[in-house]
Amino acid sequence: MAKYEFGKYRLDTEKPDATAIAAILADGSTDDILFAAANAVKAREYGNLVFVRGIIEFSNYCRCSCAYCGLNAGMKMTRYRMTPDELVEAAVETARVYRTVILQSGEDLYYTADMLADIVARIKARANCAVTLSIGERSLEEYKKIREAGGDRFLLKHETADAALYQSLHGVLLDSRLQAQRMLKALGFELGGGFMVGLPGQTDMTLANDLLTLRREGVVMAGIGPFIAHPDTSIGQAADGDAHKTLKVLALARLLLPRCHLPSTTALNVKGGMKDALLCGANVIMQKATPYEYRKLYDIYPGRDAKDVPLKEQFEELEQRLAGLGLRAE
Ligand code: 5AD
Repeated sequence: MAKYEFGKYRLDTEKPDATAIAAILADGSTDDILFAAANAVKAREYGNLVFVRGIIEFSNYCRCSCAYCGLNAGMKMTRYRMTPDELVEAAVETARVYRTVILQSGEDLYYTADMLADIVARIKARANCAVTLSIGERSLEEYKKIREAGGDRFLLKHETADAALYQSLHGVLLDSRLQAQRMLKALGFELGGGFMVGLPGQTDMTLANDLLTLRREGVVMAGIGPFIAHPDTSIGQAADGDAHKTLKVLALARLLLPRCHLPSTTALNVKGGMKDALLCGANVIMQKATPYEYRKLYDIYPGRDAKDVPLKEQFEELEQRLAGLGLRAE
């Protein structure tokens, strides 16, 4: 395990200390060393590969009231749901281009565990791909059905490690989110976690604890993105998270969790950070594979790319862009 020096701060990745992490985040004078160190670890672990995944946003219904989210239950908006048949077809198509298909939605209980299990089983029977779910909190029994049907991975971010902030933004307990993550892991899902940078009320110490939470919960993937204020939400007037700070957190995540899959998140891409993210630790990109008619309606936060480009073309465009950076799409 490595020890890094950033100016007067030391980062011992064997025994990481939240205070030291927060101090590195607060000090801008060693950012270049931090980014270079993260890029070196990424290159050591994954060479010049970037894993590209296709994400299908299959429903924007949500039972939750997360204060930051444009899909929260209180929003007056056009809601849509893909039918199981529609979703299976879209996933099989996506798997022709991408090796991993991510099925994401709001927390929509219309889809029972039996329906989701059936959808996953039908996709796995027809396509040679990993299936990732990103559908929020369910019971152990529900998760188990989906796992037994062949679900490989599950994304469930802790969003913020500050329990009081978590509760004020979500109206429910951080503990219940952490319990859900632990259930998923116990069932054998590859667990993806993550959090937002720049939430109102968050400090560098919170971010340090966010990073330590990823380690403690044993995630193998972590989505770290800037908060982007959605004007129609209750915190719509708050300032957006800072892209540069997000890159620093990402770089620290690469040092603290060397093998972790770290996407350049959609939110960071909205802020123009994709290239930088890929040069300071990120090794994954998620591309939209949602049918065109639904893309604009999946309005979590403003600025999301809702361009209608066929999957194959979209992948090839990305391949070229990556090649320009000396990187290879997988
Ligand atoms: N800004 C940035 N990210 C957001 N998410 C939800 N709302 C916002 C926002 N306003 C992120 C959360 C969630 C993921 C699907 O999108 O981290 O887990």
